[in-house]
Amino acid sequence: MCGIFAYNGDTDCREKLVNGLRMLEYRGYDSAGIVGINEKNEVFLEKAVGRVSALASKVEDTSSDKTFYTTGIAHTRWATHGGVTQENTHPHISSNERFYIVHNGIIENYKELKAWLESEHNFYSQTDTEVVAKLIETLYTGELKSTLEAVAKKLVWAYSLAVIDKQDPGKIVGIKLWSPLIVGTAEDGVYISSDVNALAALAQTYTILEDHEMVVIEGKKYSIYLAGQQVERASQNIEESQKIDELGSFTSYTEKEIFDIPSVLENVWSGRINFEEKSIQNETLDALWDLDIERICIISSGSSYYAGEIGGYFFRNFSKIHCSAIISSEFLSDVFIPDSKTLYVFLSQSWETADVRESMKIVKAKWCHTFGVVNVVGSTIARMADYGLYSHAGVEVWVASTKNVIAQVWVLLMMALSLGQKRDMQVSDIREIISELAWLPDKISHALMDAPNIKKIAKKYSKYKDMFVLGRNYFYPVAGEAALKCKELSYIHCESYSAWELKHGPLALVSREFPTMVFNPMWKFYAKTISNIQEVAAREGPILWFISSTDTHKELYTDAIELPKTSELLSVFTALTTSYLFALYLAEALGRDIDKPRNLAKSVTVE
Ligand code: G6P
Repeated sequence: MCGIFAYNGDTDCREKLVNGLRMLEYRGYDSAGIVGINEKNEVFLEKAVGRVSALASKVEDTSSDKTFYTTGIAHTRWATHGGVTQENTHPHISSNERFYIVHNGIIENYKELKAWLESEHNFYSQTDTEVVAKLIETLYTGELKSTLEAVAKKLVWAYSLAVIDKQDPGKIVGIKLWSPLIVGTAEDGVYISSDVNALAALAQTYTILEDHEMVVIEGKKYSIYLAGQQVERASQNIEESQKIDELGSFTSYTEKEIFDIPSVLENVWSGRINFEEKSIQNETLDALWDLDIERICIISSGSSYYAGEIGGYFFRNFSKIHCSAIISSEFLSDVFIPDSKTLYVFLSQSWETADVRESMKIVKAKWCHTFGVVNVVGSTIARMADYGLYSHAGVEVWVASTKNVIAQVWVLLMMALSLGQKRDMQVSDIREIISELAWLPDKISHALMDAPNIKKIAKKYSKYKDMFVLGRNYFYPVAGEAALKCKELSYIHCESYSAWELKHGPLALVSREFPTMVFNPMWKFYAKTISNIQEVAAREGPILWFISSTDTHKELYTDAIELPKTSELLSVFTALTTSYLFALYLAEALGRDIDKPRNLAKSVTVE
C-alpha cells in the first residue's frame, strides 16, 4: 500500500517521477505527489487528490517552466491515517520547509511522537508521515545519513522512506523496515522504487534493500549501509519478464491477465512436470519427501486464501495428508501450537501482505518447516522460507488477482501430486492426471472463447444488487473466490456458501430479485447439488449455472455458462477462469474502473 519512487541524476526528474508513479499506482490511488529540487535550492512541488493522471495533468501544465530539478521523490497514496485530502497527500515537509519525505508503511507510535513534537511544530495533516518529517528536523545532526539513523531508532514499524534536503541537493536517503525499497541504476542516474517492475522501463540493474538498511544516493552513485557500516551487494540485471506488457487490444489489464492464463500454466509447469514420463520432477518438491510431514497448514489472504482452500482438497485427495487453510490474520490472532510434523505453506502473490509475512515469522521462530509460494521474483521469500516455488504467473499489474490464483492452485496441485508420489498414490493415477493436465491450456483457451456469451449474461445480471454463489467440495472455495472477484470488481453484494449449507439460513433471502450462481459441472456431487438448485428454483430465484456442456438438467437454470468437457479436477481451473470473465464483464456493464476498484490496493502491507 502506497508506492514510492525517486530519482537522482543529471536530467529533469518530473516526467520520470510521474511515469514511475503510474507503474506503482496499483499500490494505492487516493492521491499522488512529487517534489523536485535543484542545485540552486529551487523546489518544484505538486500534489493532486485522485489518480496519478490528475497529478500528471498538473505537472504537464507547468511544462513552460524550463528549470531542471534533478533530485526528486514521489508518492502514490492509499489512505490509512487521515482522509483523502490535499493536506494528507505526500510528499510531506518539515516545519522549516527544508526536508521532504515520502513514506510507505505505518508508523505505529506516531501519536506518541506527535505529542512529543507538538510543542515544537504545528501539524497540517493527520498523517503519520508528517510526524517523521518533523522528527527529521528535530533530530537533524548536520547531515541526512546520521539524522535518519537517529530517526529510525525512534520509529516503531513499518516504513520505507525516501528523504531529500533542499539545502543539500543531489542527494537522496532511503531507509526501510518491512516495506519494500529497491534501488535501480541507469545511465541517467539512480532510482528508488517500491517494486522492480516500475524500474524496468528506466533502469538496467536493481538491488533490493534488506530491513534496517539505508541507501545514500549521491549524484549517480549509491551506497548501502547497515547500522552505519557500508554493505557490499551485487546488483542484478532487470529481466525482460519484469517489464510490464503493453495492454494491446484489451480494455483493461485485468482482462489481459485473464486471457494470459493458458500461457501462464505452461510457465508454471516448465521444468517441474515431465509430460513424457508423466511424473513431477522438481528438486524442491523432492526435498519435502524427507521431512516426514503428517499435516499441511496453508496460510494466506484474499484470493490466495481461496487458492489455499482449493489446495487443501488436493492434499487430502491425492497426498492423503491432513490439510487446513487459514486466513493469515486469523492465524495471527489465534494461539499457535507449533508442530514439527506440519509443513506450513504460505501463499502470496506479492509477498508484501503484512499478515502473511508476520505469520511466517511466528512459525519460523518455532523452527517449524516453512514453504513459500510467491509470484514476485526477487522477494524476500527465498531467504525467509525453508523451501519455496515461484508461481511464475508473470507481472500482475492491477488489483484483482486472477492469473496468479490459477498459478498458485497449479503449484499446490503439483505439490500434492509430488507428495502423493511419495505416499500411497498409485503411479497409474498420477500418470492419468498428468496426461489430463497437458490439455489444460487448451481447455482454458476454449473456455475463454465463450467470452461474448459470458459478457451478454453478465450484462443481464448487472441489474441485481445481491447474489449467492454456491459450490460443493472443490467448488466451494471456487465459489468463494468467484464471489470475492464479483464484489471487488463490480461492487455487487455477493456471498458464497457451500451448496448444502444454503438451507441453514441464507435460503430465506432467495427471491426473484436475488439470483444464485452455482458451480455444478458433471462430477461426483452433481446429483446432490441439483437438489440444492431445486430448492432455489422452487423459491423463484434466478439461477446462473456453471455447467458442463453435456448437462442434462437444462430446465432448472435461468442462464448457463458452459465449461468445456473435462475431468472434475480440470474443471476447477476452467470454472475459476470463466468466473473471472463473468466478474470482469459484470463490472464492465456497470461502468466500473476495472483495474482500480474503489477503496482497494493490490498490496496490503498493513495489519
Ligand atoms: C489484496 C489484493 C488481492 C490479493 C490479496 C492477497 O487484497 O487485492 O488480489 O489476493 O491482497 O495478496 P497476496 O499478494 O498476499 O496474494
